[in-house]
Amino acid sequence: MNLAIKGGKPVTPGGLKIQWPIFDEKEEKALLEVLHSGKWWRGAYKEQGGSKVGQFEKAFAEFSDAKYGIAVVNGTAALELALKAGGIEAGDEVIVPAATFIATATAVVMVNAIPIFVDIEPETYQISPEAIESAITNKTKAIIPVHYGGYPADMDKIMEIAKKHHLLIIEDAAEAHGSEWRGRKVGAIGDMGTFSFQMGKPLTSGEGGIVVSDNEELASKCYAYHHIGRFHGAPTYEHALCGWNYRMTEFQGALLLSQFSRLPEQTEIRYKNGEYLAQLLNKIEGVSALKKDSRITKRGYYIYFIRYNEKEFGGLSRDKFIETLKVEGISASTAHNQPIYKNSVFQEMNFGRTGCPINCPFYGKKIDYSEVKCPVAERVFESEVVALGKDFLLERKNVDLIIEAIKKIKENLKELL
Ligand SMILES: Cc1ncc(COP(=O)(O)O)c(C=O)c1O
Repeated sequence: MNLAIKGGKPVTPGGLKIQWPIFDEKEEKALLEVLHSGKWWRGAYKEQGGSKVGQFEKAFAEFSDAKYGIAVVNGTAALELALKAGGIEAGDEVIVPAATFIATATAVVMVNAIPIFVDIEPETYQISPEAIESAITNKTKAIIPVHYGGYPADMDKIMEIAKKHHLLIIEDAAEAHGSEWRGRKVGAIGDMGTFSFQMGKPLTSGEGGIVVSDNEELASKCYAYHHIGRFHGAPTYEHALCGWNYRMTEFQGALLLSQFSRLPEQTEIRYKNGEYLAQLLNKIEGVSALKKDSRITKRGYYIYFIRYNEKEFGGLSRDKFIETLKVEGISASTAHNQPIYKNSVFQEMNFGRTGCPINCPFYGKKIDYSEVKCPVAERVFESEVVALGKDFLLERKNVDLIIEAIKKIKENLKELL
């Protein structure tokens, strides 16, 4: 027997060489500096130059080809802010993809609006522009394209649709730090873009997030909403809007500034190794990378998606393939496991005692999420996607080991079938 699952020697007995997060004395020094300064929160906006959070906002906005950045506690909060600042209110419909992390949709509910789920493209796993167009109604106010896994959604078609129907675009770039569409960083191609700095993300402070935008009015509203309704420069207890406290601490700001100095090089290494893996995968019948698109000039990675075709592997199910890979030392998953509307919050319509905002007289329409069907997303999660976390991509050797393990499974299928 050759396969490790049958008692053979694993391709990589200790697993892949993975280290995340990556830090050294630089981060230690930055954190201690904040500690000893006694200034642990960002303070008023006018002090931005002296605040670590303010410095980070400026640097990340510049990196994102955006004019403004508002750092917040996490990527979910960033989405809520962007929706609120964009004027999304009770009963408005917001189009979201079926394949993403659930926060893309729950943030919509948290601002009393209605998420409308649409299907993804089979070859890219990103929101389908055709599906967006068919979901538009007179209640649609916004679209949240997600750059799922770091692969940019088709921003050409999405911006065209937005223009035609006067819709707000919030790019959920929580997983796409460094990704580029036609040479421009994702995030501020639409009206606003949001990022997450949660622990697993390509730029992290454990938790954290940011909204970026080129629009001064939207950025100013995002600032006010994250600062309990106070606009820049407002007197201390003058609150003009009803907002949250979503402010980032100086510890996070300092950590992000240090981590940020590592991001461009890490993105470059992941990108090169990702392209290398795609080339090798596409030579093996039955596995392939997402479609190559020349408009994607740089791809940041959070998830590396492999498309698995069970037929080409003699009928070996995708789940058995993942299990076999794992025992060879390659840890893989099914990403977010299912289209997000399959979660019980939507299937069971768990929206509290009144059912608002979805089962709310104010909305004036009836939605039953248990009836939603996005066939491509359902098939992808059911039997196709094999997902690898981004961390292996920092070492080219890992790519060779993954390919070796896949080939080994293919060559020894008779042990499994
Ligand atoms: C696509 C997407 N949107 C939103 C979020 C929410 O970010 P956070 O976990 O920082 O709240 C995440 C994070 O996992 C995500 O992957």
